[in-house]
Formats: sequence, C-alpha cells, structure tokens
Amino acid sequence: MPQLRQIHTSQPSTSSAIDRSVPDFPVAAVDDESHYFASNEPPEYLDELVKEAQCFVDEHKSKGNKVVLVTSGGTTVPLENNTVRFIDNFSAGTRGATSAEYFLEEGYAVIFLHREFSLLPYSRHYSHTTNCFLDYMAEGKDGSLVIADKYRDEMHQVWKKYNEARDKNLLLLLPFTTVNQYLFSLRAIAQVMDTLGTSALLYLAAAVSDFFIPVSRMPEHKIQAQDHMEGGKLVVNLDPVPKFLRRLVDNWAPGAMITSFKLETDKDLLLRKCTQSLERYHHQLVIGNLLQTRKKEVVFVTNTKQQWYRLKDGDGENKEIESLIIPAVIQQHDEYIKNHA
Ligand code: PMT
Repeated sequence: MPQLRQIHTSQPSTSSAIDRSVPDFPVAAVDDESHYFASNEPPEYLDELVKEAQCFVDEHKSKGNKVVLVTSGGTTVPLENNTVRFIDNFSAGTRGATSAEYFLEEGYAVIFLHREFSLLPYSRHYSHTTNCFLDYMAEGKDGSLVIADKYRDEMHQVWKKYNEARDKNLLLLLPFTTVNQYLFSLRAIAQVMDTLGTSALLYLAAAVSDFFIPVSRMPEHKIQAQDHMEGGKLVVNLDPVPKFLRRLVDNWAPGAMITSFKLETDKDLLLRKCTQSLERYHHQLVIGNLLQTRKKEVVFVTNTKQQWYRLKDGDGENKEIESLIIPAVIQQHDEYIKNHA
C-alpha cells in the first residue's frame, strides 16, 4: 500500500491567504481610544482578570523578576450577540505558546493572554497533534495504564518544566475570544504591567482582527436571511478596528519595552512594513514574518538595524525558531533596562 500523505486542512492556500492591498489604517488617536472604549462594552469578567494580573505582577515585582505579556492566537469577530457565526483567522497560537516556554526557561514570569482553546505552553506538544491523546498511553507490565515507551522521556522533560513553572507560579493564563475582549484585556493588563517600569516586556504575537461590528450594530439574535439580504446576498458591514499600538506605547505602558509582530505574505513588502510600523508607533522592536516561512525565519527591525534569524538546513525538525528569537529579544530587553536605568 502506498504511504498516505498527511493532510492538513487548517492551513490556507498561502498564495491567496491575506489580501494586503487594503491600505493601512491610521494610528488610533486619543479620541478613537475614548470612543472605542466608551461605545463598546467591557467583558463582564474584566475586573477579575485585572485582579489576577495585579496579584501576579505584584508577586513578581517583589521578587525582582522580569515579566513578559505574551499575546497569542487569533481574535474572532462575532456577527451576532448570541453568537452563532463569527469571522476568524488562521492563527493557532503556535508562536505565542512556543515563545512563552522559552521565556519561562530564561526566568521570566509570563502572562499568557491567549485565544481560549488555542495552543498553550507545554500542553501544545500533545494537545493539537493528529494523534489522539490516548495514543501516548500503553498498558504497563502490571496491567496499569502508563505512558508509551517512545514518548516517555520527552514527555517527562516537558512535564518537569511545566511543573516548575506551576510550582513557582511563573505562568498566568488569561483567555480571550473576541477582538473586543482582547482589546479591553490588553489595555487593562498593559496598565497593570506599567507599574513594573522597564522590567515589563510586551510581546504581541496575537493575530488581531482588522475589522469588527460595533456593539451598537450587532444583532441580538442569529441573523435571519430575510432581514439582512440585499439582492440575494448577505451584506456584512464592518468598521475598522483602531490601531491601538500607539496608545499602548504612549499611555498604557510607556515604561515597558514593546515588541510587535508584522505579518505579510509578500516578501517584497515585509521590511518596508516593519519600518513603517516602528515609525508609526514609536516602539522598540518589530519582528517581521511571512506567512509561508514564519516557522523558519524572522527579521528583527529596530531604529538602528535589521537582522534575520533563520533555522539552518542541518537543524533537526525539533529545533524551533523561537529558540533563536527569545534570547535575542531578551538581549534587547536587557539593553533597554540598562539604557533606561
Ligand atoms: O499562531 P501562529 O500560526 O504561530 O502565527 C503567528 C503569527 C504569524 C500570527 C505571528 O507571528 C504574527 O505575526 N502576529 C501578528 C499578526 C498581526 O496581527 O499583524 P498585523 O499586521 O495585523 O498587526 C501588527 C501589530 O499591530 C500586531 O503586533 C498587533 O498587536 C498590533 N495591532 C493590531 C491590531 C490593532 N487593532 N491594534 C494593534 O495594535
């Protein structure tokens, strides 16, 4: 029998995945900020989330630890208040979950603001694979259920790191699903992180929706075809999501080092878009990546230089690009702390 190819249905066709011909939106001004946060409702759990973040930050501040906020996964845009349909994007949270592990290994305390049910640090090794989790199990000599031989050593290493992070309370998991939840949470957590001054690092790897439906126009119930059809088509009217990165840099966490990501599909655009992003938002570092090669190479763009980080041909399949990214980000964070002492 010929070997069957592993089929992956979650990857879009990369030749047409994202249309970047749409011009960039303007940077969010103070007015846009007030308008957005006044006219859209905060998630009902926001106070609780802030309390958890505050406790975590206070604990690690008193221990002198550096704290990183990692955002991860894609935001959704609900089309109805009682949500049956929503717009989503491709991100599974691989970059964020993997990066969080490397930050933990380097002694950072990590607030992991992630899309609920996307990849998580440590469990990512087993949760979203094509294996069923039961495939990792086997029957031991005494008839009890044990971990299968071929997975045991690696799983033991992952388990030890996970337990260490848990025992030292180094990892705080905070979820979001919609773009509105994400924006309210990002603002609140950034403001909490600001109390850490330069020891705070923001690492924004989430794929944030560019368009949304404001709460004032959101239907309460499932859209009925006859109510929204125009000429036989469903017409959805979306507003641009304000680009809040500048507000983050200027007002929400002005002391922190801020790293954003820039995703493109056209390699000829990537460097220009990264530079533009730095010019527009005035933060410290943009990490550029292409959808097609994001797991193998990235480019760091700062005010003074551009540097590529690439996996080499000889690197085994277990080597992850984040093992190059995180030490380089940390080096910049250390310099940032020194320069702002
Ligand atoms: O999850 P994976 O499959 O591993 O994929 C990882 C990734 C490709 C999603 C990740 O590496 C990445 O590039 N994330 C950023 C994608 C993105 O949202 O790019 P953007 O061009 O829409 O936004 C650029 C930056 O602006 C982002 O850092 C975002 O935090 C910020 N932004 C976006 C929207 C918004 N309203 N306000 C913002 O400040």
